[in-house]
Amino acid sequence: MKKVQQHYDDVADIYDDRYDRDQGRYYHAHIRSQIACHLPNEGVLLDLGCGTGLFVQEYVRAGGRAVGLDISPKMVEKAQRRCRESGFVVGTADVLPFRDNTFDALASLLAFSYVPDPEGMLKEAYRVLKPGGSIAICTLGHNIFTSAVPFIYQVGEKVGLKKVGVGDFGEHYYSEKEIQELLAGAGFVDVDTNRCSFAHLALRGPVFRLARSVEPFVEEHIPYLAYNVCGSGRKPER
Ligand SMILES: C[S@@+](CC[C@H](N)C(=O)[O-])C[C@H]1O[C@@H](n2cnc3c(N)ncnc32)[C@H](O)[C@@H]1O
Repeated sequence: MKKVQQHYDDVADIYDDRYDRDQGRYYHAHIRSQIACHLPNEGVLLDLGCGTGLFVQEYVRAGGRAVGLDISPKMVEKAQRRCRESGFVVGTADVLPFRDNTFDALASLLAFSYVPDPEGMLKEAYRVLKPGGSIAICTLGHNIFTSAVPFIYQVGEKVGLKKVGVGDFGEHYYSEKEIQELLAGAGFVDVDTNRCSFAHLALRGPVFRLARSVEPFVEEHIPYLAYNVCGSGRKPER
């Protein structure tokens, strides 16, 4: 965990160049839309692994209030600068410093793969959500393209590449079935999953544009080819 924290401290200054510019902005906005549609747009959100606050900013702009938590102090610093009216905490997503039944909504974007204790994180998410509260997470999914990613990232680390996410962190890339089982296992109901993102930000310009034009078709008809897996659910009313 220390290694992931160190990595995101190191790349905090360049993070938004990757996810808040050009292709990255489209890629991230698409993921945010897949999460936002499962959450109420009023009430208080907790964003786990909030990074530089891109989703917190969007949630607040849509009318909600939000708190972010991230393991990297430098990412939290960036988030706090982006969203001055929101609260941010440094910590790990599987041990939450919040009271039971506090939040109306819980989100986590592109962070779940790093969490060493996914059951622990979802148990904590369930605890801090109010009865009837909603959860939505999106994380890199396992498919034919992403199966080589850990190896490529390990090589990237060996040659000293300073790029967001590049390193040997022992991440786990999930299947829809795993996400379903984890959410249901934590006690969530109305569990649903889908895959999203075919236009990956790392694709070259023309290939990216082509991937973007066929993205809706891929997501609907050949979802296994999409990069991310999203899961949503609800904490039952008392
Ligand atoms: C790819 S970034 C995603 C950031 C943000 N959610 C977004 O969509 O832009 C992954 C983030 O997860 C955070 N992270 C990794 N492991 C974590 C953990 N165990 N608890 C909390 N945050 C963690 C990292 O510090 C980093 O900010």
